[in-house]
Amino acid sequence: MCVLHLLKFPIGIIYDYLKFKFMRGIIFLLLVLLTIQMGHASEPDSAYIFAYSTTKNDNHNGLHFAWSLDKKQWQGIGQERTYLWSDYGRWGSQKKMFDPDLYRSSDGDWHCVWGLNDNDGVFAYASSGDLISWKSQSYPLVYPEGNLKSPLLSYDHKSGEYTIVWQSDKNTVGNYGVKTKDFKTFSTPQKTAYFDKKETVTLEGESLRGTIHKVEWAQIEKLLNADKLEELKQKLYSERPAEDTILFAGLKSVEGTLSLSEDKPRKISDLFMGVFFEDINYAADGGLYAELIQNRGFEYSSTDRKEWNSLSYWKKSANEVQLNIDSISPVHENNKHYLTMMAPKGQGVINEGFDGVPILAGEYYDVGIYARTKDQNTDYLIVQIIDSTGQVISEGKTRQVSNKWGQYEITLQTNVTMSNAQVLVMTENGTAVDLDMISMFPRNTFHNRKNGMRADIAQTIADMKPKFVRFPGGCVAHGDGLENIYHWKNTIGPLESRKGQRNLWGYHQSYGLGYYEYFQFCEDLGAAPVPVVAAGVPCQNSGHHGHPIGGQQCGIAMEDMDAYIQDILDLIEYANGDKHTTWGRKRAEAGHPEPFDLKYIGVGNEDLITDIFVERFTMIYKAIKQKYPNINVIGTSGPFYEGTDYVEGWKLADSLEIPLIDEHYYTSPGWFIHNQDFYDKYDRTKSKVYLGEYAAHISGRASTIETALAEALHLCNLERNGDVVAMTSYAPLLAKQGNTQWNPDLIYFDNISVKPTVGYYVQQLFGQNSGDEYLFSSLELVNSDIAVKRRIARSVVRDTKTGDLILKLVNLLPVEVRLKADFSPQQYQGGVVEAKVLTGNIQDRQAMPKTARLNMGNLILEPYSLSIIRLKAK
Ligand code: AHR
Repeated sequence: MCVLHLLKFPIGIIYDYLKFKFMRGIIFLLLVLLTIQMGHASEPDSAYIFAYSTTKNDNHNGLHFAWSLDKKQWQGIGQERTYLWSDYGRWGSQKKMFDPDLYRSSDGDWHCVWGLNDNDGVFAYASSGDLISWKSQSYPLVYPEGNLKSPLLSYDHKSGEYTIVWQSDKNTVGNYGVKTKDFKTFSTPQKTAYFDKKETVTLEGESLRGTIHKVEWAQIEKLLNADKLEELKQKLYSERPAEDTILFAGLKSVEGTLSLSEDKPRKISDLFMGVFFEDINYAADGGLYAELIQNRGFEYSSTDRKEWNSLSYWKKSANEVQLNIDSISPVHENNKHYLTMMAPKGQGVINEGFDGVPILAGEYYDVGIYARTKDQNTDYLIVQIIDSTGQVISEGKTRQVSNKWGQYEITLQTNVTMSNAQVLVMTENGTAVDLDMISMFPRNTFHNRKNGMRADIAQTIADMKPKFVRFPGGCVAHGDGLENIYHWKNTIGPLESRKGQRNLWGYHQSYGLGYYEYFQFCEDLGAAPVPVVAAGVPCQNSGHHGHPIGGQQCGIAMEDMDAYIQDILDLIEYANGDKHTTWGRKRAEAGHPEPFDLKYIGVGNEDLITDIFVERFTMIYKAIKQKYPNINVIGTSGPFYEGTDYVEGWKLADSLEIPLIDEHYYTSPGWFIHNQDFYDKYDRTKSKVYLGEYAAHISGRASTIETALAEALHLCNLERNGDVVAMTSYAPLLAKQGNTQWNPDLIYFDNISVKPTVGYYVQQLFGQNSGDEYLFSSLELVNSDIAVKRRIARSVVRDTKTGDLILKLVNLLPVEVRLKADFSPQQYQGGVVEAKVLTGNIQDRQAMPKTARLNMGNLILEPYSLSIIRLKAK
């Protein structure tokens, strides 16, 4: 990449930026500009680079460079700028780089190997043409019988083979080596000699080991410029509207005119806004899924959470009660554990629910219990809803329980509202019983579905008018390790037959909310279902879980891939197949003979785009295309808006012509402000984008007016690109207060109330005011400062069904914006109109939309606001 090419991006931004940042910024940027643009008159032809890593930050800081003209005086590049991060295994404990060894092949390409930890028989490899952009990393498991430390790389020109040698001190002590031509297949490890050619360099008084290479000066200049560019980007992206008093000091209100242009409207995808549902933050069990009993199947275990067992969230009502867990003859083999209870009359077992069992006055609760008595006895089950002092709120008695497993159902009614009641189960006469699948649901669920969704949470989602629902994740879809991959077949059928498992967010998924319920929920919402399945690899951040390596763990074994692919094809049949097909019949048996009309399926979730991924994704993609050519597959492009996985994910999408690509980014408000043209640059002939996960994050990770308006600004830009950005969903959707693993989320809730965030209202306002045509407009501001301009976003769309023109106007400035916006020549309503306005203090976390009367001749956009105006056609 030539230096000038590198400059294309920054010059425009730098120029704009210079006008507004305070002196420190101006001086810095001038220096950047001058250094990048001018170079030096008397540059050397060549110099030396030193490639190294450090032990800082527990070896997490990746690969750095320093340069020297004479191999004596060295200068570090940037503040230990990282040019290559190690991406192996779990966040925190892994993703380390030890002893990188860099080699340059005769074609000019760079090859880097490094050690990953003290334990695994694996090394890391990546290559690059310029030391700045790196291709996908690979982690060949060449020595499963021991560990692999300090790998060294060399090349034999005669044989055309690379050799990787390493030291091992686990199981056997010695030095070993393998040969390879392509870093994909390797010879069997052999004992070998080990000569470390690394050199020692002193940098800022620190003695470091690494490799030294003589390179053309241009290479060093590229590294220096890349460092400066990165620093500049970080400065831009750290711009915080919350710090506007400095940036816009002295700014008075801004005036301008908004007019429609003659350009042909752009089609906006009819799936433009949807929701991303993942069982994170207790979003499913204890959340949207209306079940009130926690650990109803006694299947919690220490693999879910260290301190858990089958009796977690259950307790005795009195000391004399004996509770034991058995698994000899369960209700269903997939639900192995059940409770054996011996309790005197009047005593039994209490469930504490999810932070208590919430009850509402006047509500009915349907209780279902699998039970059998011991020996030949019979008895009755008594179920009570009690308060924390043991006071009975409601009580019911089942039919007589026999000594064969059977399901016993009763309905309770309550006349008080309480967030933390408990449920007590006992026998009428103190007979010993086995109990399992103890369940209690409010009768009132969303759309009155049995085994359904909590009505208030579901309604809050429905109010966003989502066009699609993505599920079951997120990381939950691909799982923490191969055994944790989400297998949809475990989630359907009778509840007692579902095979729950560890939730990688640190709890348990019962799968009571399984694929059938998802599809039904989508239908009830009027939204398209968008299931996401693993691409044959688990989460890139997986732990080892008994495997010799972490991360993708080599993916699902090739001999198991056919079965895995068949499962995915079966899922499509389950959704769409005729009721006489194998899987269509199961759907019909569950209560839905008509197909669910599945049109989209995601394969993979922000995975590392490695050979392991590509091979499996391609197999799955081709199989789906072949059997179901009308199903649109959504590919994946990593967890960021740039970088190796983004680039390689898109390359794969191009080569396979994947219809849609899932992009993810959680980033700063400054990124949204300075990347408003991100999708304007996308090629309209290539894959469409599904922006599957995004959110503006600030320190403290709250949803505030600042983050919400950054998201609103982005949504305006996304709507403009609604022809190429076909689908969007903020992430994550739900979080139970006090049980979060991730913030911010769109909707928080506790046991009895739902607390939408400011960000939720942005999504809701956009969702309720979607259009199917984007109309181009021009905004002429009296104040021509680019920094001011960047804080005002608009989107003008038309809903061709109603004929309404909808204006979405974002003012991310601390001052009013006054606009003339007269569309009466285009035959739209003018004068005073009704608007929805979301505004507040920049740190406000409680703001809600209000209704306002605005004058189109003098449209006042309040400081820090989103205004939505619907104009009727005249
Ligand atoms: O949305 C939370 C998590 O963020 C998702 O599970 C994952 O895909 C992403 O990293």
